[in-house]
Amino acid sequence: MNTTRRPRLLDLYCKAGGASMGYHLAGFDVVGVDIEAQPNYPFEFYQDDALNYLALHGHHFDAIVASPPCHDHTTLSSRAGVNGSGWLLDATLEALAAQPRPWIVENVMGARMRADVVLCGSMFGLRTYRHRKFAVDPRLPWLPPVPWHPVHRVRTSTKKTRKDFAAGMHISITGDVGAWTGPACMGIDWMTGKELAQAIPPAYTQHLGAHLLDLLAGPEAGAA
Ligand SMILES: C[S@@+](CC[C@H](N)C(=O)[O-])C[C@H]1O[C@@H](n2cnc3c(N)ncnc32)[C@H](O)[C@@H]1O
Repeated sequence: MNTTRRPRLLDLYCKAGGASMGYHLAGFDVVGVDIEAQPNYPFEFYQDDALNYLALHGHHFDAIVASPPCHDHTTLSSRAGVNGSGWLLDATLEALAAQPRPWIVENVMGARMRADVVLCGSMFGLRTYRHRKFAVDPRLPWLPPVPWHPVHRVRTSTKKTRKDFAAGMHISITGDVGAWTGPACMGIDWMTGKELAQAIPPAYTQHLGAHLLDLLAGPEAGAA
C-alpha cells in the first residue's frame, strides 16, 4: 500500500453517509455510491447501481464496504411485505468475494448473513442500542475486536421526544426520528430524520475502519 496518501475506501449503498463518516474519521478517503441522488452525502459521490460501479471501478480502491438495503430482512417486513431488494445482499456478498479488495458488509440482525461482529450503541456510549451485524472478508487475518457490550439497563423511548431524552431515556431511531433526538443519539448532524433512520452511527465504522487501516498497513508498518 502507498503510505503517502490516505487509503481510498468505496462505500456502496451509502445513502447520506452514516457509515462513510466513521470510515472517514478512521482515516480513509471515502467515495460513496447510491442508486438515488444523495444531496446530503458529505464526500465524493456517484449515483449508480452499486454492483455496476463495483465492477467498473472497484479496482481503484484499497477497501470496499457495503450496506445493501435491509427492508426485506427486518422484522417489520413480515407486516409491510417484502420490498423486493433482499437479493442484493447475496449478490453483493458474491461480488465482493470474487474481487481482491478487503471488504466489510453491514446489515440488520435479521439478515441472512454471517455476524462476524455485532455492534451496539451502548459499546460506544451512545443513547440508542441499534444492533447491527457485520460480515468481514474471511481473507483478512484478524477480525475487528468486539468492544464490551454493557447490559441494556436504560429504557428506550419509541416516542422519541425531547422530553423523554431529557428524562434520560434512550431513543429508538426509526421512521422520521426528527432533527433533535436522532442526531444527539447517533452522533450525526448533517442529514434528515428519514435518512438518519436508515443510517448506522459513525462510531461503529470508525471502530471497524481503524482495524481495517491497521491491517492494510501490515505488520511491518512501524518497523524502523
Ligand atoms: C440502508 S441504506 C444505507 C445507509 C448507510 N449505510 C448509512 O449508514 O447512512 C441503503 C441504501 O441503498 C440504496 N440502494 C438500493 N438499491 C441500490 C442499488 N442497486 N445500488 C446502489 N444503491 C442502492 C438505497 O437508495 C439506500 O440509500
